[in-house]
Amino acid sequence: MEKPWISPDTITGDAATGKRYLRREYINETFWREVRKGNHILFVAPRRVGKTSIMKDLAENCPEGFAAIYQNIEGVKTGNEFYQRLFSLILQCIDRSPVAKAKAFVANCRKKYNIQEITRSGIKFGEKELNYEKEVREIIPQLREAEVHTVIFLDEFSEVINKLNQKGLQEEAVALLHTLREIRSDDNFKQFTLVFAGSVGLEHVVTSIDRPKLINDLHPINTGPLTDAEASQLILQLTDGVTIQLSAEVTEAIKTTIRHLLPYYIQLMLEELDAMAKVDQQPRIKLEMINIAFRRVLKKDKNFEDWLERLKSYYVEAFPFINEILVHTAHNGNITVREIYHKAIQEKYQRTEDYMNFVDQLTNDGYLTETENHVYSFTSPFLHQFWLRKYPIYA
Ligand SMILES: Nc1ncnc2c1ncn2[C@@H]1O[C@H](COP(=O)(O)OP(=O)(O)O)[C@@H](O)[C@H]1O
Ligand SMILES: [Mg+2]
Repeated sequence: MEKPWISPDTITGDAATGKRYLRREYINETFWREVRKGNHILFVAPRRVGKTSIMKDLAENCPEGFAAIYQNIEGVKTGNEFYQRLFSLILQCIDRSPVAKAKAFVANCRKKYNIQEITRSGIKFGEKELNYEKEVREIIPQLREAEVHTVIFLDEFSEVINKLNQKGLQEEAVALLHTLREIRSDDNFKQFTLVFAGSVGLEHVVTSIDRPKLINDLHPINTGPLTDAEASQLILQLTDGVTIQLSAEVTEAIKTTIRHLLPYYIQLMLEELDAMAKVDQQPRIKLEMINIAFRRVLKKDKNFEDWLERLKSYYVEAFPFINEILVHTAHNGNITVREIYHKAIQEKYQRTEDYMNFVDQLTNDGYLTETENHVYSFTSPFLHQFWLRKYPIYA
């Protein structure tokens, strides 16, 4: 009988864990060092770089003396809901610790708050309605008694603030940021660390409501693309024990084609190469298959649609200007600051004051790179080609 075909064990789109995850030890080390110093953390990276994967890995593998929990809080719609989540997360987190004092602390809280059940997915309270903001403020200073350092990872936090903002609840957003800032700066609130991330830049959101000071105490941890060696390592890891065979030359060619080495792009390429090889029942990947795989990955718009949608929903009013920069870059291979300026001064945009802010944001968000002085190009060949596909005509 034929041997069964074994595909790479990738999970594309969702956070990678276990064997599918490539850990970068220096990120973990930096993280815990900063937490030990007493810093609260902000993960800064464009979407799909791997923030969620990193946060989950950190939460699952925290050092002794710490208890950590991860949650995506995107669905939170009000300040009160936020505090309710945070309160539950704190208790769920301590409940995970094997330390006796932590156990006693949770047992106490169960009685005090009439809690019926604490599980991984949440807390069931009795009939009592609580003022969660007040309870959060009260419980954090008490965490000392639990003798564990509590670390709460709040993913998509910036989405919550952004949505409050867009719904006209700007004051609620500011109040929330304010309270969190207060909690972070209070000496009674040691033993407690908040970690934020989001697929929209928190900095941009708070700048847009004119309150950058409310987060400038957060310690940013930047996570970039993989290095060349890390990319090779990930390819090796994901193809360990699978049917397809990649020569060293093929691995190099994959990296050269992707250029901007996000794990996500590597996953997409490996899946496509695997699918092609499987059809022909030819385990050996040939060099000429790489460009074909690249084109096929590109044809599935959903792989990259996010990058465009995000700009539309996030910048709304400035989107046409921003997109013109990107479409120009896609068609010409690059764009100079002078060309951007000439777009900015047009009657329809009138962006002479802030046009470079947008260029900076596109650079920070991983769309563009300054390839030489005052000249910008796409960071990723995938994104470059995607923009050409979306906007084939540029007059
Ligand atoms: N270190 C990693 N090792 C393997 N795959 C990863 C790694 N980091 C991210 N990925 C993959 O990249 C994609 C984006 O990861 P994710 O953690 O969701 O990023 P973000 O939260 O920044 O948008 C997912 O498909 C995920 O499986
Ligand atoms: Mg994420």
